[in-house]
Amino acid sequence: MPPATSHLLSAIVLTSTILPSALGSQVAVKEWTFKGLDIPSIGLGLWNSKDKDATRAVEYAFDAGYSHVDSAAAYGNEDFVGKALQSSDTPSRHKYWVTSKLWNTDHRPGRVAPALKKTLADLSIPYLDLYLMHWPVAFLPDTEPGRTIVDQDTDIVMTWRAMEDLVRANLTRYIGVSNFSPRQLDTILKDCHICPYAHEFETHPYLQQQEFVDWHGEHGIKVIAYSPLANMNPTYKSKYPKLDPIVEDPFWKDMASRKNVTAAQAVLGWGIQRGTVVIPKSVHEKYIFENLASVNVTFSKAEMGEIAAQDKRSRFNNPSKDWGVELFEGLDDGYNRFFVEEL
Ligand SMILES: NC(=O)c1ccc[n+]([C@@H]2O[C@H](COP(=O)([O-])OP(=O)(O)OC[C@H]3O[C@@H](n4cnc5c(N)ncnc54)[C@H](OP(=O)(O)O)[C@@H]3O)[C@@H](O)[C@H]2O)c1
Repeated sequence: MPPATSHLLSAIVLTSTILPSALGSQVAVKEWTFKGLDIPSIGLGLWNSKDKDATRAVEYAFDAGYSHVDSAAAYGNEDFVGKALQSSDTPSRHKYWVTSKLWNTDHRPGRVAPALKKTLADLSIPYLDLYLMHWPVAFLPDTEPGRTIVDQDTDIVMTWRAMEDLVRANLTRYIGVSNFSPRQLDTILKDCHICPYAHEFETHPYLQQQEFVDWHGEHGIKVIAYSPLANMNPTYKSKYPKLDPIVEDPFWKDMASRKNVTAAQAVLGWGIQRGTVVIPKSVHEKYIFENLASVNVTFSKAEMGEIAAQDKRSRFNNPSKDWGVELFEGLDDGYNRFFVEEL
């Protein structure tokens, strides 16, 4: 057995958790889980970080003091992230947190473990801390490049079952979901033996979803806030052209100057204070260092109220139409089948 695996096995404890489902029923869960590092409140995002830029970004992050990276097979750069993780300057494996994600073409149960093993080989690490189902949608595998066909024979519970086996096989410490609607999350909660540790979804000051965030807190599921800098991701530029880039938004510039921090630090600090884990992406050393300092930014109750009033309910990442599926049902700016103009 490789040394890192035996390290994990020695840390095993038996835990018993009661997880109430969104429908109100209670599910008793008794499974083996690992003790160890809990998810750090800030991590480095890696979507759109290309090749060597991804390697360098991870190196800058470890230099700055991050201990958490947010990766995914679909980002196409896990081998470049792995180059940084195998460097002798990187801390020991158990001292940092790695999240990765199962892509939609690998939802069929027989494809789940091979997909994770490929991610581990690319990242050059023996196990993940957290493996997420990237989207609640299965695609047919092996279609032409660029084509997506929804696989109606594979549902999220079948995929979740295969993901539970990954925890039992010590390939990941925890499993979780991403981009789920309340109804989809409830489907998993009703049936899970190993239940979601975390839910990663889009939330920031322009899409606060406070009730949904609070619901997770009440049910012991961590929220990982993706795109925590709202519309700073250049791929979101055209979605709401009238909204200022958040770091140029007069409200945030003023809030930041009151605290003598940058607007990005203020935005990220708010995300952390509300209890979400933030994963800002950058390939620039300056921003990577700057963003980590957001852990020290705090807001008064009155300021939290002012920020709540700034919610624009604007979602930037919604591939419902492109994929022909209903995503974010029941959530702000989600798909609503009854809005004819949405079709
Ligand atoms: N689960 C999912 O479906 C999902 C979806 C989206 C994102 N994510 C995860 O969440 C991470 C973060 O989200 P994101 O990449 O969409 O966007 P983001 O982190 O909110 O914003 C990234 C953009 O902000 C810029 N930036 C970073 N720090 C800055 C600062 N201090 N001042 C000014 N600009 C700054 C970056 O510039 P430079 O890069 O040029 O430095 C980049 O263009 C992703 O990388 C990914 O890991 C997950």
